[in-house]
Amino acid sequence: MSALTVALGERSYPIHIEPGILGRAGTLLAPHTRGRVLVIADETVAMCHGAVLAASLSAAGIDHRMATFPAGEPSKTLATAERMWAACAEAGIDRGGLVVGFGGGVSGDLAGFVAACWMRGVRFAQIPTTLLAMVDSSVGGKTAVNAPFGKNLVGAFHQPGVVVIDPTLVATMAPREYRAGLAEVVKYGVIKDPAFLAWQEANAGALVAGEPDAVAHAVRESCRIKAWYVAEDETEQGVRAHLNYGHTFGHAIERDTRYERWLHGEAVGIGMGMAADLSARLGLLADPDLPRRQGALLDALALPRRAGRADPERLTGHCRLDKKAAAGRCRFVLPRRAGEVETVVVEDLAAVAASFAAGMDP
Ligand SMILES: NC(=O)c1ccc[n+]([C@@H]2O[C@H](COP(=O)([O-])OP(=O)(O)OC[C@H]3O[C@@H](n4cnc5c(N)ncnc54)[C@H](O)[C@@H]3O)[C@@H](O)[C@H]2O)c1
Repeated sequence: MSALTVALGERSYPIHIEPGILGRAGTLLAPHTRGRVLVIADETVAMCHGAVLAASLSAAGIDHRMATFPAGEPSKTLATAERMWAACAEAGIDRGGLVVGFGGGVSGDLAGFVAACWMRGVRFAQIPTTLLAMVDSSVGGKTAVNAPFGKNLVGAFHQPGVVVIDPTLVATMAPREYRAGLAEVVKYGVIKDPAFLAWQEANAGALVAGEPDAVAHAVRESCRIKAWYVAEDETEQGVRAHLNYGHTFGHAIERDTRYERWLHGEAVGIGMGMAADLSARLGLLADPDLPRRQGALLDALALPRRAGRADPERLTGHCRLDKKAAAGRCRFVLPRRAGEVETVVVEDLAAVAASFAAGMDP
């Protein structure tokens, strides 16, 4: 299958998507290193899929090591990055070497940050293993670690030189984690591609069941759309912000429950419902049927649609602190119709609170 390309001039890179491709990863990574390779993976991913990757690197004649860390968001810290820099030193990663992020968004963000800083920047590759990482975090070059004062606040733009995606790897994911990734897939249809949205509606059963052909198609279409945004606006000065559809509401919901109750994708799904509601409230919605369609699709994908109980005013307050807020003003990505959204600075905070309330249990 032909690779997709993230078109960034001299820094353009391929996204290889193919069932079973992990067994050939070594061949695909070989042109991207003149030295050694350090694979950074969490312990779960290393245990489930590390042997296949290691065998393919060995078969391609690549001198490689794997450094692991405990799975989960709490590991995405400067302290773990420091351990990984020590691993770079031990593995002999020099300016010609390659760092590989192997795992979900945590491994990818961490490995990318490690690569961006090590020796002022070494080459980097992404091999995502969660659906969220395949359709979102592995493409686009955003890397970061969390700090005590906020998530993803310490980081760098550092594009990978190659992305290798084996969609069959999602088969070992926890079902809830897998479904949460589907919310980002829905997002791409709503913001950019009515045909992809319609395909998802027709194939929701296959998607939620994780049928390999459906997963592969969803990953490919999602990456195609993400690659377009990244090529258009690499550092998010404008249109790339559309990828944050559902995220301002979603981040507020996550923050309000101390990142314990909802997975990120679940919060984004709930947030997309709130964003569609806000669009209608502000008179921006050109297709009044879109909220119903989006909601029905989220239901068919077994994603939650309501955020439980919380104070809408407090949630609205969280939006003003969102990283994407401009000078304390709330910025939302709001849909007009399937495939068309816009970024709107919303002054009417009562409407925002009402949209929060509409997406919560009474
Ligand atoms: N850089 C970006 O553009 C970007 C975009 C979106 C999200 N993110 C970041 O991504 C992170 C979330 O990513 P995530 O949801 O992938 O979380 P994650 O990396 O923590 O993975 C979730 C869990 O799934 C396990 N896992 C991974 N692949 C598996 C597989 N194939 N089989 C079995 N278990 C597997 C992991 O061990 C982990 O326990 C957050 O830190 C978020 O900030 C970054």
